[in-house]
Amino acid sequence: MQNRPIFVTGASSGIGLDITRSLAAQGHPVYATARKESDLQALAAIENVTPVRLDVRDPQQVREAAELVARHGDGLYGLVNNAGIGELGLVSTWTDEELLDIFDVNVFGPFRLTNALLPLLVEARGRVVLISSQGGMISKKYYGPYTMTKHALEAYSVALRDEVAPHGVLVSIVQPGGVETSIGENSFAGMLRRFERAQPPFKEEADAVLASFNAPPEPPASDEESESNRKPSPPALVTEAVVDALFSAAPKFRYLVGTKWEGDRVIQALIEKLLDENDNPVHNYSQAELAALLARKIEERKK
Ligand SMILES: NC(=O)c1ccc[n+]([C@@H]2O[C@H](COP(=O)([O-])OP(=O)(O)OC[C@H]3O[C@@H](n4cnc5c(N)ncnc54)[C@H](OP(=O)(O)O)[C@@H]3O)[C@@H](O)[C@H]2O)c1
Repeated sequence: MQNRPIFVTGASSGIGLDITRSLAAQGHPVYATARKESDLQALAAIENVTPVRLDVRDPQQVREAAELVARHGDGLYGLVNNAGIGELGLVSTWTDEELLDIFDVNVFGPFRLTNALLPLLVEARGRVVLISSQGGMISKKYYGPYTMTKHALEAYSVALRDEVAPHGVLVSIVQPGGVETSIGENSFAGMLRRFERAQPPFKEEADAVLASFNAPPEPPASDEESESNRKPSPPALVTEAVVDALFSAAPKFRYLVGTKWEGDRVIQALIEKLLDENDNPVHNYSQAELAALLARKIEERKK
């Protein structure tokens, strides 16, 4: 499984850089994308890495990136759609332009790039990995548009998986909780702008959030929600899931990555959704039927 060419977006920092370093160290040729000249130079200094200038919002640059890979002539085994932005704020404070921009990066970006590289991936019977988020499964206040983009990736990945699997390409979606990267720092100015923009009756709450940025951190609420359970994971945990998705003989479709506290939160939110859907007069299961269904599905997965 060495010498498998992989394309990784958003390799200038955080998760993308960790994935790039790890794959390159394992001997895989990595096409690693960045936007700033200094980041491209830093990537060029890593053995096995070919830096590629790419803003995923630019269709022309996407086409040129795909042409560059095709020209190299070694094919492409894997695509890791990692580039993304993590902007936050009350939904009522977002402008149309901001909403379009976060979708452009987080959804249209992977969509464009996957389409552009698909012929090479089909030829190699390769793999596509999407870096989503636990926010692709759950949402909460202030995370509206970010989690909207990650929910969109979830729907996209299911359709893509079912369309490309018959042609030998396997798709996985990786869903990290909090990860120690610069994503918060990179989106801080935009988040501040939006909280400052809040209008009554939301202004009081927004001002309290702004004030909390200057307050000392609160002690953990309980043992279960302790600091250690909630604290962000290292990027290496995400890389581990990506490597499995790329090279395992039987990769999982969904990789939930993070602490137990974060994972429990996702599973419980999914159970809440299931119970909401089941709570209607026509299509519903009894408690016993639901338990039997779950037991049957668990058995099916063991086969
Ligand atoms: N950190 C977390 O807690 C966390 C949790 C769940 C999911 N994720 C996901 O993980 C992925 C990576 O995030 P990270 O935490 O590693 O954040 P990060 O350190 O801020 O890295 C984000 C990367 O995306 C790139 N990027 C941003 N806009 C781009 C654009 N228009 N075109 C091309 N590249 C662009 C950045 O490049 P520049 O340096 O040029 O801006 C950077 O390389 C994202 O999809 C994010 O949603 C992160």
